[in-house]
Amino acid sequence: MSTDHSPAVHPDAAVRPPAVPSVAGVSTPVAVRALRKAYPGTVALDDVTLDIAGGEFVAVLGPSGAGKTTLLRSLTGMVRPDSGRILVGDQDLTALTGFARRAAQNRIGMVYQQFNLVGRLRVLTNVLMGRLPGLPARAWLSGRFPEDAVQDAYACLERVDLLDRAHQRADTLSGGQQQRVALARALCQRPRLLLADEPVASVDPKLAERILGHLREINREQGLTTLVNLHTVALAARFADRVVGINAGRVVVDGPAELLRDPATIHRIYAGAVDADELLVALPAWMGTAS
Ligand SMILES: Nc1ncnc2c1ncn2[C@@H]1O[C@H](COP(=O)(O)OP(=O)(O)OP(=O)(O)O)[C@@H](O)[C@H]1O
Ligand SMILES: [Mg+2]
Repeated sequence: MSTDHSPAVHPDAAVRPPAVPSVAGVSTPVAVRALRKAYPGTVALDDVTLDIAGGEFVAVLGPSGAGKTTLLRSLTGMVRPDSGRILVGDQDLTALTGFARRAAQNRIGMVYQQFNLVGRLRVLTNVLMGRLPGLPARAWLSGRFPEDAVQDAYACLERVDLLDRAHQRADTLSGGQQQRVALARALCQRPRLLLADEPVASVDPKLAERILGHLREINREQGLTTLVNLHTVALAARFADRVVGINAGRVVVDGPAELLRDPATIHRIYAGAVDADELLVALPAWMGTAS
């Protein structure tokens, strides 16, 4: 017996032309003010202040342990900062509590390095899970989703070129495809802000380009403010409008992605990290491709 709570849709639905993606085109600005988060023995974020314009595509770079994930998790509300403020649009996330806080969190899409799909469920059901928090309990208890949510999920899958995989189990897809499903799930949330934590660290370089290409196109089409943690300087230079460099919890670089053409920028971001010299050696290979 199938364990998949499939939505109530006609089996031919996957081949119907999808609805126009109904993901709201929102250019939400983000303001981070004097954010601080300490763990025992570590200051993960130390007086981080950022102003991100609506619709910007920002690459966050930094050595391992710099605080990149903590920054993104603070923006989703999964980490509570010790002090400081986070404004997403006109909402002060750090001041919200209870239902209002959860509602704000539901409009922030997140893509993870390890995809975080439910492998035994179909691709479409995984995408629909992006919509779950906004649906009445009976929808998820019965596994029957409203038709508009189902159509949205198809549209989001179409957006990442995976409509033909809608009824396949998620764990039968390749890593790159699974990451695109995760992106479709985040889009199905109708996010005001899209965050991705090393979304291409588990896929090969060609697929990495494709996934970042999707993120970039969606960012441009919808004006969706996007922050992506990356380990690869070349990808940041190629896809981002702007780079934020974090080192030991502090913002050490903040400016246009063109700054990455300057070796001094790389040194500043990766100061003290073992891989700084390796990155410098790699510079000539990608400087010509930076756009
Ligand atoms: N829940 C936690 N408990 C204790 N320390 C933590 C916790 N989360 C993060 N840290 C510490 O905070 C610092 C920043 O961690 P973070 O995960 O944000 O770094 P990162 O830049 O994402 O690193 P990586 O590139 O390896 O993913 C690290 O020293 C880490 O060990
Ligand atoms: Mg991290």
